[in-house]
Amino acid sequence: MKILVATDKPFAKVAVDGIRKEIEAAGYELALLETYGEKAKLLEAVADADALIIRSDVIDAEVLDAAKQLKIVVRAGAGYDNVDLEAATAHGVCVMNTPGQNSNAVAELAFGLMVMAVRNMYNGTSGTELKGKKLGIHAFGNVGRNVARIAKGFGMDIYAYDAFCPKEAIEADGVKAVDSAEELYATCDVVSLHIPATAETKNSIGRALVSRMPKGGLLVNTARKEVINETELIELMEERTDLKYMTDIMPAANETFASKFPGRYFSTPKKMGAQTAEANINAGIAAAKQIVGFLKDGCEKFRVNKK
Ligand code: 3PG
Repeated sequence: MKILVATDKPFAKVAVDGIRKEIEAAGYELALLETYGEKAKLLEAVADADALIIRSDVIDAEVLDAAKQLKIVVRAGAGYDNVDLEAATAHGVCVMNTPGQNSNAVAELAFGLMVMAVRNMYNGTSGTELKGKKLGIHAFGNVGRNVARIAKGFGMDIYAYDAFCPKEAIEADGVKAVDSAEELYATCDVVSLHIPATAETKNSIGRALVSRMPKGGLLVNTARKEVINETELIELMEERTDLKYMTDIMPAANETFASKFPGRYFSTPKKMGAQTAEANINAGIAAAKQIVGFLKDGCEKFRVNKK
C-alpha cells in the first residue's frame, strides 16, 4: 500500500518523520510530494496511491479520476472545502479531516493579528490594549473555543455566536452567547472569524454585519477568504475610516486593500495559522493513524463524505 503525502505547503520535517514512522510501522510505503506547484505533478503522483494525506491541496474530480487505486483522502486539518466530496463519493473514496488538531495554532495566530492591529502594526505610535475589550467569536468550534481560552488570559469580555452550537454549551465555557450574528457584530470591538466556507457562509461577511461594529472595530479572519464579501468590505472601509481588517488568508483583492488602507489592513503572504511544528505533528500523525485505522480495521471515524 502506498500512502502519498501531497502538500504544496509542506509540513515541518519533524511532522513528516512522525507520519513516516506511523505508515512504516503499519507496513506501508510513504511517498512525499511537496511544494509541487503545478497540478500536473499531483495528477502524476496520485496515479498509484492507495491513500492521500493533504492540507489545503485541491482534490477535485480530475485528481480523483487520475487516482485509480485511491481509497481514502485525509485532510490534515479542519476545513475540507478543498475536497470535492460528491466526486469522492462517486469514486468510492472516503474523505476525512482531523478536527481539533491544529486549532490552538490558528487561535494563537488570531491573537498575533489582534495585537498587531491594536499596536498600529508596530509602527511606534501609541496603540490600545485588548484587555477589557469586547471580543466576538464567530462560530464556536475547536478554534473558537481555543480563542475563548486565550482571550480569558488577555482579560477580554468574551461573546460568541454559533448557528449550530447550543447557547448552553457556549456559556458552559464562560462565554456570553448572543442570539444572532447581527448582535455579535453590533456588540463587539473585535470579531474573530471561525466559520467554515460553505454554500451558506460564502460571501456572508459584508456590509450587513461589519457596518454594525462599534467605532474602531477590528475584523480578524483566520478562517477562509471566501466567507468575506470583499467588494462590500472595501466600500465599507472607505466609508468607515475607523475599521481595520487583519487576515491570514490573502483576499483576491489584496492589492486594493493594501493600497487603500495602509495601517488598517494586513494579510499574511501565505495562510500560516496552522503552520507550526506542533500543529503539523498533531494533524499529520492523526491523519496517518486514521489512514492505518481505515485500511486495517475499516474505521471511518471523522469521515465527512457520504458513502
Ligand atoms: C484548516 O482548515 O485546518 C486550516 O485552515 C489550515 O490549513 P493548512 O493546512 O492549509 O495550513
